[in-house]
Amino acid sequence: MLTKTVASLAILATSALAQVPICSKYATALNITETQLVEDVLVLALLGNTTANPPVAGILASSSPVLNFFNGAGLTTNRNNQPTSVNFLDGGGAASLQNGTLGTTGSNQLTLANHLVEYVGFLLNCNETFPVYTGNPNMYAVHKFMNISQTQFTYFDTAIENATKMWDLGSWL
Ligand code: HEM
Ligand SMILES: *[C@@H]1O[C@H](CO)[C@@H](O)[C@H](O)[C@H]1NC(C)=O
Ligand SMILES: *[C@@H]1O[C@H](CO)[C@@H](O)[C@H](O)[C@H]1NC(C)=O
Ligand SMILES: *[C@@H]1O[C@H](CO)[C@@H](O)[C@H](O)[C@H]1NC(C)=O
Ligand SMILES: *[C@@H]1O[C@H](CO)[C@@H](O)[C@H](O)[C@H]1NC(C)=O
Ligand SMILES: *[C@@H]1O[C@H](CO)[C@@H](O)[C@H](O)[C@H]1NC(C)=O
Ligand SMILES: *[C@@H]1O[C@H](CO)[C@@H](O)[C@H](O)[C@H]1NC(C)=O
Repeated sequence: MLTKTVASLAILATSALAQVPICSKYATALNITETQLVEDVLVLALLGNTTANPPVAGILASSSPVLNFFNGAGLTTNRNNQPTSVNFLDGGGAASLQNGTLGTTGSNQLTLANHLVEYVGFLLNCNETFPVYTGNPNMYAVHKFMNISQTQFTYFDTAIENATKMWDLGSWL
């Protein structure tokens, strides 16, 4: 299972989806910055919205099967190649995601949120005005202690996919 998940991560990271100018196209259409567009997708996927169409269950919802990787419940984070407990909801949680700050300064939450925005921006081929990804590019290393199951992977993936459909961005997934 781990091998399969890691392979999926690698495929997603290197796929040709980036060839279509989705990021600039929708940012222009919506008259928002590319960063704002990616943040909106990410925040919707993280928090969920049951009344959206399609509904987004939310990666950080209380019933989420992947919440435990984010709240420090287990030794699932890779720090210096050691399984470590890290709380990624330490920057104000949902409130700061909703108000656009993504997390308080210096929090694990803000670092992760910024890295995810940068990385998704890179996947969507957002262009030069977009912040460059500054996290660990090795997705295997980042996720190696999470032992992600198929159910968990599908939930995470579908939350993001559902969130992109809000703006009809889903064709790249
Ligand atoms: C079930 C699937 C997944 C779960 C539960 C998950 C969970 C997590 C968690 C808890 C972190 C924080 C780890 C750390 O900072 O060391 C993380 C980091 C990250 N994840 Fe995932 N992830 C999943 C799938 C993905 C996918 C599909 C992608 C994109 C292809 C992705 C991209 C990233 C990136 C870019 C980071 C930031 C790494 C860094 O800050 O250096 N993840 N993920
Ligand atoms: C961003 O890239 C798109 C095509 O991918 C291009 O049409 C647009 O002019 C670029 N915008 C900026 C600000 O570079
Ligand atoms: C786009 O947004 C800017 C402010 O962010 C505003 O000044 C401008 O009028 C908007 N353009 C359109 C066409 O709505
Ligand atoms: C959830 O989605 C609905 C339908 O698009 C929207 O009206 C509502 O404002 C959204 N709620 C939040 C908290 O974003
Ligand atoms: C995604 O949307 C479908 C409906 O199209 C829904 O059944 C499913 O629960 C949603 N999943 C997530 C993780 O948001
Ligand atoms: C956003 O929410 C966070 C967490 O509640 C709070 O610390 C921050 O001051 C808020 N920022 C704004 C601009 O409302
Ligand atoms: C990983 O999870 C599977 C079930 O999804 C379990 O059988 C296996 O023992 C776990 N491996 C580790 C190293 O925790």
